[in-house]
Amino acid sequence: MYFHLKKWISPSLILTITDSIKRFNFPIRYHHIRIGINMPTAPRHYRGEHHQEMGQKKLKRFAEIATFPNVLQYPKDMAGKWHEHFGNDHPITLELACGKGEYAVGLARLHPERNFMGLDLKGNRIWVGARQALENGLQNVAFLRTQIDKITDYFRPGEVSEIWITFPDPQLRASRSKKRLTHPAFLRRYQQILGTGGYIHLKTDSPDLYIFTKEVIRRYGLDILSDIDDVHGRENTEEVLKIRTHYESLDISGSHRIYYLRFRLIGEILSGLDQELLEWVKNEPIRATPQWQRHHEEAADQ
Ligand SMILES: C[S@@+](CC[C@H](N)C(=O)[O-])C[C@H]1O[C@@H](n2cnc3c(N)ncnc32)[C@H](O)[C@@H]1O
Repeated sequence: MYFHLKKWISPSLILTITDSIKRFNFPIRYHHIRIGINMPTAPRHYRGEHHQEMGQKKLKRFAEIATFPNVLQYPKDMAGKWHEHFGNDHPITLELACGKGEYAVGLARLHPERNFMGLDLKGNRIWVGARQALENGLQNVAFLRTQIDKITDYFRPGEVSEIWITFPDPQLRASRSKKRLTHPAFLRRYQQILGTGGYIHLKTDSPDLYIFTKEVIRRYGLDILSDIDDVHGRENTEEVLKIRTHYESLDISGSHRIYYLRFRLIGEILSGLDQELLEWVKNEPIRATPQWQRHHEEAADQ
């Protein structure tokens, strides 16, 4: 049986593969691999230079955010202390999966009387929003680098007044639906830190995530306050909805539509209903274009 390396892959990956092959004594036809390394026309990023540049840029950003006063990375014992950090007792709004933090920064500009925090795992993305906030002298915005799954470790009950979830990965596979940021498993976490009546805003270009979230709202008896299926196709869109994020401008889904939901968590979000929700998810067709599905499956596998 032969395995053929048909795609361009980086020289370092080729070396790893050849190394493993040698170690396990598999026969190999090296000419396939030599062609891969030597072809002068191989695209730059497959030759590894692009990855090196990206790596250096990331390292530079990681070093810089470590010095930014408005970025906290996996901080310990901050629950209940955010008002001290901001130096006031203004209400706190979170942007979850903030990426480059366009909402955290945009909302901070629109509402100087409130505080905003962007949360994301990726320091090199947070760097963009944090630097912008520093350059613009915005004191009412900060960034928290951490896993959203651990959100209850970082905030006391009632410490957060609103949550924005901006273009999160829709996690299209049914088996990953628990990872959707509007899945009840996440809503139960948000409920622990949100003040009474606190809003959750979802902005997405994924019809699947939009429909899923509406189903969650319906099944768990949540309070829906706004439901828009074409944000930019309407007249008189609210200022807050005009803020555009990086992923919003990519329109990876090809839906040419932006969806928006605003809702409130009321009562207990019963875990006993989660299995029925999963059955519903399994029977739902995926509406995303194949390109969007591929993009997200690849991202989920990384
Ligand atoms: C599709 S991007 C959207 C980024 C940004 N909101 C935008 O619209 O451009 C999703 C972001 O969610 C972050 N993310 C995904 N799962 C996360 C988790 N469990 N905890 C923290 N961040 C997460 C990723 O790092 C990524 O930056």
